[in-house]
Amino acid sequence: TGGSGFIGGHLVRRLLKETNCIIFNIDNLTYASDIESILNIEQSKNRFFLYRIDIKDSHLVSQAVKEIKPDIIFHLAAETHVDRSLDNPLRFIETNIIGTFNILQASLNYYQKLSLLKQKSFRLHHISTDEVFGSLGSTGKFDEETKYDPRSPYSASKASSDHLVRAWFHSYKLPILITNCSNNYGPYQFPEKLIPLAINKALNGESIPLYGKGENVRDWLFVNDHARAIDVIFHHGKLGETYNIGGFNEWKNIDLIKVIIKTVDRLLGREEGASDKLITYVTDRAGHDLRYAIDPTKLKDELGWEPSLQFEEGIKKTVKWYLENQEWLDNVASGVYQEYYQNMYKN
Ligand code: NAD
Ligand code: DAU
Repeated sequence: TGGSGFIGGHLVRRLLKETNCIIFNIDNLTYASDIESILNIEQSKNRFFLYRIDIKDSHLVSQAVKEIKPDIIFHLAAETHVDRSLDNPLRFIETNIIGTFNILQASLNYYQKLSLLKQKSFRLHHISTDEVFGSLGSTGKFDEETKYDPRSPYSASKASSDHLVRAWFHSYKLPILITNCSNNYGPYQFPEKLIPLAINKALNGESIPLYGKGENVRDWLFVNDHARAIDVIFHHGKLGETYNIGGFNEWKNIDLIKVIIKTVDRLLGREEGASDKLITYVTDRAGHDLRYAIDPTKLKDELGWEPSLQFEEGIKKTVKWYLENQEWLDNVASGVYQEYYQNMYKN
């Protein structure tokens, strides 16, 4: 589910290119989705099928799972932007909590009818966030034992979904895995999230809004490394367990923005510091979590995963991608893709 979103898209393209699997993507194509980037790759032919379904609809979800007969399920569909959750919390409650409940029920009904052999290899992998752990002070990191302490409607809805997934494991023995990852960045991210937003603004010479004093800290991971971690955990993770995924890469927002605009200016051949004046301090986000940092030791020690890309390289690659794909950026930001999907994929 959610295979046309930012992380889902990277996971789908990875699976199409590196395996022979057939992918059925349950996604209702919200503003944050992009399906062209999947359909444009050759391996998608006869191996990628879209079910344009809203996961809030229990009947459609259950029908789809029965029809698809999946060997495994990766659940990524969600409302994901904290600021939107402050403006419209109900949407997050419905998609992230009720939607996950629907996926769990449909999976369980399906799982219980599988042969013992198929049951052995089936799993539901729930993709979640480090925001469920709340906010850190200037020291410490989140590990798998950190108590849940979500503070925004988004993180509270994701925390609820994690609890539901764990409950279905203990109560009904549904084979699940949960991963909680830190902030992702990379190509194809909708430009409302900080990194693509800053790149887009810098490109167009528009002011870049920095919340509060710009001192909040996030732990950034290149999206392909997240997709690879999901792949590793899905294959080798222990059922019922949680794994934290992080980049060992903390940045204060203000320092991050400076790196981004420096990279944009350099790649566009602008004078050094030309875009510094675009940074604009604005009213802080309500309940703005101060710091996130993941301790991914369990994943590293037990399954041997580590981030593969250094941040300097990752950010350069990312900025370059947005500069070379300005049409994508303009289309996704202006909603052109949305109109196109409305006509192309009628429910
Ligand atoms: P995204 O917003 O880019 O994509 C979400 C996808 O879900 C979209 O394709 C959208 O159309 C689909 N979707 C939303 N509501 C739906 C509904 N009601 N029915 C069907 N489909 C629906 O999100 P993302 O950044 O790719 O995040 C994917 C998952 O990873 C989410 O569960 C998120 O909580 C988690 N996560 C994200 C990050 C991050 O930094 N982006 C970090 C950790 C975890
Ligand atoms: O930690 C994982 C989470 O990371 C994911 O679960 C979420 O889906 C994802 O959206 C992201 O949440 P954040 O709130 O950390 O990401 P965002 O890009 O919205 O903001 C990053 C930081 O930048 C945060 O401290 C708020 C700040 N910010 C954000 C925006 C959009 C600004 O200063 N200005 C902005 O305009």
